[in-house]
Amino acid sequence: MITGYGHFAQLAESLQWDETTIDLTADIEAWGKLEQEEYDQVLGLLAGFCVGETSVATHLTSFQAAASTDDRMVEVLQAQARDEARHARFFDRVVREVAGVPGNNMAERIDVLRDRISPDLLELFEEKLPAIAASVADDHSQLTAAVGLYHMILEGVVLTAGQHALLQTLKGLSVQMPGTHKGMELVLRDERWHIGFGSRVIQSADVVDDQMEELLTQGVKAASAWGDLISQDDIAQVEHLHQRRLKSVGIKFW
Ligand SMILES: [Fe+2]
Ligand SMILES: [Fe+2]
Repeated sequence: MITGYGHFAQLAESLQWDETTIDLTADIEAWGKLEQEEYDQVLGLLAGFCVGETSVATHLTSFQAAASTDDRMVEVLQAQARDEARHARFFDRVVREVAGVPGNNMAERIDVLRDRISPDLLELFEEKLPAIAASVADDHSQLTAAVGLYHMILEGVVLTAGQHALLQTLKGLSVQMPGTHKGMELVLRDERWHIGFGSRVIQSADVVDDQMEELLTQGVKAASAWGDLISQDDIAQVEHLHQRRLKSVGIKFW
């Protein structure tokens, strides 16, 4: 049994940042000058993050009761939930202040953006994740399966693919959006330890080969969830990363 989740709590503490202090002035200025294609690409990715981060922030709380026999693990899950809530607030701030998406709150703005999000992405975050979060709340033995979906697939594949695509897109724009870029990098930094923590949970559990194979298959399928917003090259890259990660946590059929 591998333990040592405390390291992740310390890491989380040292990486705290405040989404309200990121300067979006240049981004607001740049937004009106985006080409139509750039506008659709950036707003589509931001829309996906608003849904994804809001969903992960909401449903991670169900994992804590299942981990209650391990105080360190609970502490890490709480730290992670705090990160996810910050990520959701950051993306909401960008769509509100930079893109000018109307709405009184995050949920209303997500509704405005919903048409830009692929049905596959919505299904993962609004059906599959809530379902597994509900099952882990009822049956604590489901924790490993829930971490498999949340940390290995949604974070390790889907969100990672979106994050790289957004950074890549921002780099290639006809204008600069430095505040959005900065926030995206900080989110990515947090996500690295979240995925590292999830990998550790999977590694510590007795995951049998067919569960691992299922994680592999689901991950490969989920890599395409963003639809046209992500290139085939990026999808292939994230699939490869997923395979390597599963291999490193003990997949046996290689
Ligand atoms: Fe996040
Ligand atoms: Fe995360």
